[in-house]
Amino acid sequence: MCGIVGYIGSQNSAPILIDGLKRLEYRGYDSAGLGIYCENRLNVVKAKGKVSVLEAKAEESKIQGTIGIGHTRWATHGIPNEINAHPHFSSDETILLVHNGIIENYAILKDFLIGKGYHFKSETDTEVLANLIDFYYKENNDLLEAVRKALLRVDGTYGIAVISKKEPDKIVVAKNGSPLVIGLGENENFVASDVNALIAHTKKVIYLEDNEIGYVTKDSYLIKSLDNATLNKEISEVDMDLEELSKGGYPHYMLKEIMEQPESLANTFRGRYIEEEGIAKLGGLFGYEERILNSNRIIISACGTSWHAALVGEYLFEQYAGIPVEVEYASEFRYRNPILSKNDTVIFISQSGETADTLAALKEAKRKGALTVGIVNVVGSSIARASDTGVYIHAGPEIGVASTKAFTSQVMTLALITLLLARMKNMSLEEGKEIIQAIQELPAKVQEILNHNSFIKKVAEKLSDAKNFLYLGRGIHFPVALEGALKLKEISYIHAEGYPAAEMKHGPIALIDENMPSVFIAPKDAIYDKVLNNIEEVKARNGQVLAIADKDDDQIDKLADYSIKIPRTHDMLMPILTVIPLQLLAYHIAVKKGLNVDQPRNLAKSVTVE
Ligand code: M6R
Repeated sequence: MCGIVGYIGSQNSAPILIDGLKRLEYRGYDSAGLGIYCENRLNVVKAKGKVSVLEAKAEESKIQGTIGIGHTRWATHGIPNEINAHPHFSSDETILLVHNGIIENYAILKDFLIGKGYHFKSETDTEVLANLIDFYYKENNDLLEAVRKALLRVDGTYGIAVISKKEPDKIVVAKNGSPLVIGLGENENFVASDVNALIAHTKKVIYLEDNEIGYVTKDSYLIKSLDNATLNKEISEVDMDLEELSKGGYPHYMLKEIMEQPESLANTFRGRYIEEEGIAKLGGLFGYEERILNSNRIIISACGTSWHAALVGEYLFEQYAGIPVEVEYASEFRYRNPILSKNDTVIFISQSGETADTLAALKEAKRKGALTVGIVNVVGSSIARASDTGVYIHAGPEIGVASTKAFTSQVMTLALITLLLARMKNMSLEEGKEIIQAIQELPAKVQEILNHNSFIKKVAEKLSDAKNFLYLGRGIHFPVALEGALKLKEISYIHAEGYPAAEMKHGPIALIDENMPSVFIAPKDAIYDKVLNNIEEVKARNGQVLAIADKDDDQIDKLADYSIKIPRTHDMLMPILTVIPLQLLAYHIAVKKGLNVDQPRNLAKSVTVE
């Protein structure tokens, strides 16, 4: 989704801003721009499309100066074009603003400003905010105070960076519902919506919280609350290297991230169990275990792939720990007026930790007194900070828009929480130890599947002309079917639906013919025979079948057109193995179709607006 960078120091800001914007490209965007102060003027370059187009235009225009702000825009109000791209000027070009989020009452504010003689060039809510700031700026020429007063009138979400040609020694920033971080350098400072844009320059950062505002100069900073109290903020050290953000020799981040799963999973579970006691040990949950275990119920809320992990979690908690669970889309939960009390636990799962719907659902659950637990990848992100407690999944940076390693690490984290709760309840020591052994052996089994990459690529190439796919699984593998279908949709633009396999005969079976492949997740578990019956039903209608099956399953080869064989593990961990061929299948189909795998159209890595 939208990205912000800003620089103030002694170097030419243009290449620094462009580099920062490139590091935010993975978030998804459709136009970009930068604005730089030089010799009493604010100069702006904008481009529709990629940052590389902006870079060429910036070089051609020779824009330069030691203070500037840049932005990648993912269109919400107004189509993606240069006029709507950020930064936005105030009417008289005194102020320049970049903004992530949505100003919900922009129409009322716009009418107010038109009444005061302001005019507008774009269709954006951001230009309204630029002029509102200018309105207050004219009162006393204090940019920080003008931004503060303007924001007091705003309903909605924002992460903003503002510069003024009258105060070219500072960048003013503010945050509410959209991330904003300050990076501290030596005689230079930075601002960004995401630490990825900063770590080439500094690892010392200050995360702004909601309703905080401040400024950076090249050698100082000030942060206040929106009600004007000066704050003493903690400086954090970012634990991430630049190499972790590079493609490491793979053609796409998505493939790199799929291939990293043996390691990312090991990072998720390392040091998080006590072998001889057959129990998980999760530092983030210390002191909260009994409250979670004795909750009336657990609700797990998330969006997209994280929601699929939540569905796996529901199965695990109910099956192994005997705790009733409900799973809710965060976008629905936040508006449903859920009945919650302090006796409920609500778990929020998010890779980015910045998903607007999930964050809003979290705030609602907190407001109602429930215990909130975050299962998050990005350290220091909004959801991680807003939760009462939580567990980081430690999957490492996930850059590809299609989530892969985060999903498997989310499921691993849920399995660890299940192990903890189930052992506190009535799971035997023996089973606890068995699960730990299975966890330890899992990375090697994941690697075994990844070694079949070339075979999976061949299968993908054979199926890549299909226009529709069905993904079918039962029990704990139904969410895996949903996840496989989502992966294919997102990056190959092929329509795919996930269904519980037995539901097929209640409708989707009408779609089956020789052109519609069905992907069955069919490991040999308690309902394997039922899944075989479903495969027979598809074959009887000339449908093509791709089965994800156990490596010793010869029976399935007689039925399926293609089968991808995987090792077995404890049932609790099987979704981590069955999803991997589906990730590779989607990846290779999208590559065969020549599509932009890492930045699929219309999608954003982190959906920071509703
Ligand atoms: O960062 P989050 O896990 O909160 O993101 C939730 C969804 O937006 C995300 O999983 C989305 O569905 C991905 N593109 C899936 O690949």
